[in-house]
Amino acid sequence: MSSGKHVLTAVAWPYASGPRHIGHVAGFGVPSDVFARYQRMAGNRVLMVSGTDEHGTPILVAADQAGRTPRETADHFNRVIAEDLRDLGLSYDLFTRTTTRNHYAIVQEIFLGLLRNGYVFPKTAMGAISPSTGRTLPDRYIEGTCPICGYDGARGDQCDQCGNQLDPIDLINPRSKVNGEVPKFVETEHYFLDLPAFAESLAGWLRTRTSWRPNVVKFSLNLLDDLRPRAITRDLDWGVPVPLPGWQDRSDKRIYVWFDAVIGYLSASIEWARRSGDPEAWRAWWQSETAEAHYFMGKDNIVFHSEIWPGMLLGYSGRGDRGGEPGRLGALNLPSDVVSSEFLTMEARKFSASRGVGILVRDFLERYDADALRYYLSAAGPETQDTDFTWSEFLRRNNDELVAGWGNLVNRSISMAAKNVGYIPAAGALTDADAALLATAKAAFGTVGEQLGRSRFKAAITDVMRVVAEANKYLSDTAPWKLKDTDPERMATVLHVALQVVDDCKSLLTPFLPASAQRIHELLGGTGTWSGMPELRAASEEGGPDYSVLTGEYRTEARWESVPLPVGRPLQPPTPVFAKLDRSIVDRELARLEGGE
Ligand code: MF3
Ligand code: ZN
Repeated sequence: MSSGKHVLTAVAWPYASGPRHIGHVAGFGVPSDVFARYQRMAGNRVLMVSGTDEHGTPILVAADQAGRTPRETADHFNRVIAEDLRDLGLSYDLFTRTTTRNHYAIVQEIFLGLLRNGYVFPKTAMGAISPSTGRTLPDRYIEGTCPICGYDGARGDQCDQCGNQLDPIDLINPRSKVNGEVPKFVETEHYFLDLPAFAESLAGWLRTRTSWRPNVVKFSLNLLDDLRPRAITRDLDWGVPVPLPGWQDRSDKRIYVWFDAVIGYLSASIEWARRSGDPEAWRAWWQSETAEAHYFMGKDNIVFHSEIWPGMLLGYSGRGDRGGEPGRLGALNLPSDVVSSEFLTMEARKFSASRGVGILVRDFLERYDADALRYYLSAAGPETQDTDFTWSEFLRRNNDELVAGWGNLVNRSISMAAKNVGYIPAAGALTDADAALLATAKAAFGTVGEQLGRSRFKAAITDVMRVVAEANKYLSDTAPWKLKDTDPERMATVLHVALQVVDDCKSLLTPFLPASAQRIHELLGGTGTWSGMPELRAASEEGGPDYSVLTGEYRTEARWESVPLPVGRPLQPPTPVFAKLDRSIVDRELARLEGGE
């Protein structure tokens, strides 16, 4: 079983600046979990890591607004977010935080490795200060016109219109978001990542990434046309200290949040290894030539995962255009795949926590099942284009597809067999129709598995639902309920075939719908854990405060293959697995949205 590939599943780190809404989990959460669960079932060794991103201006802004310290803000939302992700059933091997000692140490190690190899250098740059207070004005607090697309609401760090990364000094008509004054630019010393020094190594690597989603490759190759050194320190007091004499103890200089956050994938892997009892175990995912690393995120994160993080990895490993030596940890693997989702809009408006448009994960899960959301996002999520979430479509997908399609197949197959036979019946001679349906279900493991391995989630779930529809049609055609008195043997055969296909579809849907797969496993008389679920556990480290992490035991008997059901296993009449929703929820939810509740 442990013979499979090592597959790192690296999931974007949500900012601990507020509760997450369903647009966030549509981008990084559900897709990565579907992928990881499939890979485990396929016999591969998955390490799925992430955590909360707890530095930078997003946290400072949230702290300011709430009258809390950055630390209190991070503690609070780390907890809130971890609970949300747990209740969605996201199977992180480790979901940790960027404020651990371990993370600080690894970030500093990567910084120093890059510096030693000459890919990081100091330079005096112009930084914004507020003329009225004399204090530095973080990039996010500066607004102006984008020099690239002309959008007037661009921020000092990024333009939300064209997606380009900006420097505050490039903004046309810059002004402070705090009080409208024009910032003053003064000289300040910073460290820069020398991105132009990766032009060739990055291009050579990107050209080999032919299996990526086309929009991601295109976007990433375009970035190469304009590589400029990027500041990786900030005038801030919240973040990872710069590990250099004269800098380490300064309270006004910190490493830039994005430089620290992407290193989280590595530091979390190292933390996981230490917790597993084998501190070197992370190397199998980061240094073996056959290991794969799949990164999951929303599209606004692509640049950090296809350009900056690969540049950092190349530089630390001594494989940038200027060469060098690998640092103390050794050479590190580049991403195999950067899987990015587009945006999910909410009833035609962009999800935005700050503008109060959206549905929080918590609110959603209080009213609906996690699998109903996971189904919707897998079947109708923003996989390759911006996509609108509507309540009426949610209702339709839930009632017509999940309940009337899959739920109905499960329910009528198991209840007919339970009532009329009482156990899993043996099959007699198979008709062509019986054999054809069994073959369709069996073959789906190949086709659907191939799609899941390439993160084609919509195509994958659509194919499984096609098998479900065929099985429902088979039951209508064969009408086993009419055979009870006339031909009980034939009835037993039909029910055997139906139950086997239910079991196969349960396996095929396990990555998407893990909680209901567990229930169906039990309805079919299975015992033990089929779908492992994450849990919050207390964690500690030397010299630091206690915290909690999300982790779990996900190695179960679940396999990506058709397994013959044991004939004779007792069956109980089932209760419905999925809840049908009343039409009235649509108006109720729309009213909530309007009311900004
Ligand atoms: N916190 C960032 C966001 O929400 C994502 C960081 S992904 C990381 O956009 F891995 F780089 F941290
Ligand atoms: Zn722009």
